[in-house]
Amino acid sequence: MKKILIIGAGFLQSFMISKAQKMGYYTIAIDKNPNSIGFKYANEYGVVDIVDENACLQYALSKDIDGVITGATDYGVLSAAYVAQQMNLPGLDYEVAKVIKNKYLVRRTLYENKVDDISQYFEVNNLDMLNEVRDNIKFPVIVKPCDGSGSKATKRVDTFQELISACKEAIDSSLIGKALIEDFIKGKEYGVESFIYNGEVYVLGIMGKHMTSPPDYAELGHCLPSYLPIEEQVKEVVNKAIKSLGINYGAVNMDVLVTEDNRICIVDIGARMGGNLIGSHIIPMSTNTDYMGIIIQTATGGPLELTTQNEKINVVTRLLALSPGIVNVLPDFAKIKKDCQVELYHQLKVGNEIREYHNNLDGCGYIVSVSTDMQKAVNKAEKAKILIDEGIIRA
Ligand SMILES: Nc1ncnc2c1ncn2[C@@H]1O[C@H](COP(=O)(O)OP(=O)(O)O)[C@@H](O)[C@H]1O
Ligand SMILES: [Mg+2]
Repeated sequence: MKKILIIGAGFLQSFMISKAQKMGYYTIAIDKNPNSIGFKYANEYGVVDIVDENACLQYALSKDIDGVITGATDYGVLSAAYVAQQMNLPGLDYEVAKVIKNKYLVRRTLYENKVDDISQYFEVNNLDMLNEVRDNIKFPVIVKPCDGSGSKATKRVDTFQELISACKEAIDSSLIGKALIEDFIKGKEYGVESFIYNGEVYVLGIMGKHMTSPPDYAELGHCLPSYLPIEEQVKEVVNKAIKSLGINYGAVNMDVLVTEDNRICIVDIGARMGGNLIGSHIIPMSTNTDYMGIIIQTATGGPLELTTQNEKINVVTRLLALSPGIVNVLPDFAKIKKDCQVELYHQLKVGNEIREYHNNLDGCGYIVSVSTDMQKAVNKAEKAKILIDEGIIRA
């Protein structure tokens, strides 16, 4: 029985862990949180901080694993690449992983390789540096932590005054203490999921993204297919980005902005399967690609067996971005699920605080809706969300 190490054992990784187990692997999961929900699905688990690359390696060596994966989180990407490199297992090149983990280095690589034309980008690690760039900045810009995720501390900025506070927030929320300032791109947002194997890039899906209104830039849901008329051009840009960054292997998740005049700008790249149910639900349900299956199989030295159907099924997700308050009574989830014909996942319990939704961490769960008609899929998901929100009695 092959042994696979899954780095991260939260809710979104629990699907990978149970998938690997169903495929007949001996699954070992690690996470810093001793109460990780994913531990339930693993044959064995360890309480290990997944950003601590050496701790992950020592643990992996002690278990003599055959493969290592992470997914749906940026925190495990460097450790997975490091363990794979040190143990000579299939994985993303560690040096490439280091570049990808820094949005500034990614932005610079994309610009220098003419993947897109976002020419304004600065990296700052203290507020004094802003005086150096003060005279050169053309507003509006977006400010974000160089190693951020889940849209935390991401702000559009129109004045120098705002720039100071946005940079402070971004630097404070960055593990490496760095913020990226770059051109603000006005456009519609899409998510692109790809898999790279033996130098070949397979674009598995281009999703429409449903986002919060400014000043927040947080995900509220996805739809696949995107019905974007210029999907082929997006694929070309994605291919070029992957090649210029030297991504040699594995799953890649991107956020792409497409402007009114069809400029295609990649604003975020994660060298791992997408979160928010993209990898576990949206891609396989819509395209019939066994996404987690190919990640698991190739990570343990197996061949790539890719089957996708051309006819895509409409899949829509909504994050449970709910009205704030303390939960006193939960809604009748089973009834809502049945009435709206949707899948529901949530972590709500009586006594929980629902925070105002500003980033991914404020979400309380997910709705997944499927239909032969995209509008119907959207309507079912929206209706379920309203019923859940209205059904919660708050203290
Ligand atoms: N250059 C930009 N122009 C406009 N919006 C942006 C830009 N960069 C990021 N955003 C918005 O902010 C969101 C979060 O930024 P992103 O780089 O994807 O960070 P995270 O790693 O937190 O997902 C994006 O999904 C997008 O909506
Ligand atoms: Mg993003």
